[in-house]
Amino acid sequence: MKNTALPRIDGDAVMHGELLGHCRLGRGQVWCDPEGRHRVGCLDAADQEDVDLLMAGESGMLAIHDPPYNMVAFGSVETSAYIEWCSRWADTTASALGADCSLYVWLGANQKGHFEPLADFMVMMRQKAFASRSFITLRNQRGYGTQKNWMAVRQELLYYTRGNPVFHAEADYTDIPKILRGYYKEVGGVRTENLERGRSENIRAGNVWVDVQQVFYRLEENVSGCYAQKPLKAIERVVRASSDAEDCVLDFFCHSGTTLLAAERLGRRCYCMDKDPVFCEIAIRRLERYRGTGKTGWQMGNPFENGHDESKEQGRHG
Ligand SMILES: C[S@@+](CC[C@H](N)C(=O)[O-])C[C@H]1O[C@@H](n2cnc3c(N)ncnc32)[C@H](O)[C@@H]1O
Repeated sequence: MKNTALPRIDGDAVMHGELLGHCRLGRGQVWCDPEGRHRVGCLDAADQEDVDLLMAGESGMLAIHDPPYNMVAFGSVETSAYIEWCSRWADTTASALGADCSLYVWLGANQKGHFEPLADFMVMMRQKAFASRSFITLRNQRGYGTQKNWMAVRQELLYYTRGNPVFHAEADYTDIPKILRGYYKEVGGVRTENLERGRSENIRAGNVWVDVQQVFYRLEENVSGCYAQKPLKAIERVVRASSDAEDCVLDFFCHSGTTLLAAERLGRRCYCMDKDPVFCEIAIRRLERYRGTGKTGWQMGNPFENGHDESKEQGRHG
C-alpha cells in the first residue's frame, strides 16, 4: 500500500477487504504482546466468552470504552436496541474489572439521525453496580455544523466507579498557567492570594476539558483510515488519574489503539479488543511503530504502508 493517507476504512468495502489480507488476527483470536504486557483480541465486547478469552483470568482496574454510536458504524438501530447492547457490554466489563475500579465511557449523539442515546444510557447504568462520579465534557477546538445550528464542539465522557479505586488528583492539572490573581483570604493571620494557596501554578481540567486538541490529519498521532480516533492527551489524562503503574487498563472498542498506546507510554498494561480485524491490526501496528520509532501515529502516511509485516505472525493465539 502506498505511503499516503487512507480514506475512512468503514466507508470503503473494497479497501477493507484488501486490508483484511494484511491482518494477523481473525475472529476469535488474541494477540499476546511478545514483551508480555498487552493483549489485543479480535472479539465482541458484548460476548462473555470473548471477554473471558481476552482476560485469561486477570482483572482490570480501569476501563475506557468508546463504543460506536453513529449510524455508519452501528447500522440503523432503535435507541432501545442500542441500550440493550450497551447493557450487555457493561455487564461483561463489570466481570472483567476488579472490586475497586473505574469505568469511563465516551458517548456522543447523531442529532441529524435523531440518535441521542446519552440520557437512556445514563438511566440504564443506574441498574449496574457502578456509581456515577462525574460527567466530563471535552470541548473540541474545531467544530462542525451549519450556520443554522449551534456549532458542535462537545464530546461527553461519563465517569463511573465501583468500590474505592484510586484517583490521582495531580492528573487533573492542565498545562495552562493560572492568570487570574486575587481571591484574598487570611490564613494563620496572613493575607494570602489564591496563587499562593493553590497546589499548582496551572489550572485544573475539572470536568470541562478545554486544552485537548482533537485529532486531525496534521497531527503526528493521526492514524489515517480511522474515523473516530480519540486524542492521546485525553486518554492519558484518564489513565494517569485512575490507574497506577503496571495496572491493567481495558478498552473493548480499541479502533486506532489510543488506549493501548497510552498504556504503553505510561507503564500500564492494556487488554483491548475490536471486533474488526483491520482495527485490531492497526492498533497492534501503532504500538509496534511507537516501540520502533517513538512516533504516535502516521500523520500523512498509513498503518499499511509497509504492506506485509514479517512480525505479523508473532504472538497470535486462537
Ligand atoms: C468509536 S471507535 C473507538 C475509537 C477509539 N477510542 C480510538 O481512539 O481509536 C469504535 C470501535 O468499536 C468497534 N466495535 C463495534 N462493535 C464492537 C463490538 N461489539 N465489540 C468490539 N468492538 C466493536 C468498531 O469496529 C470501532 O473500531
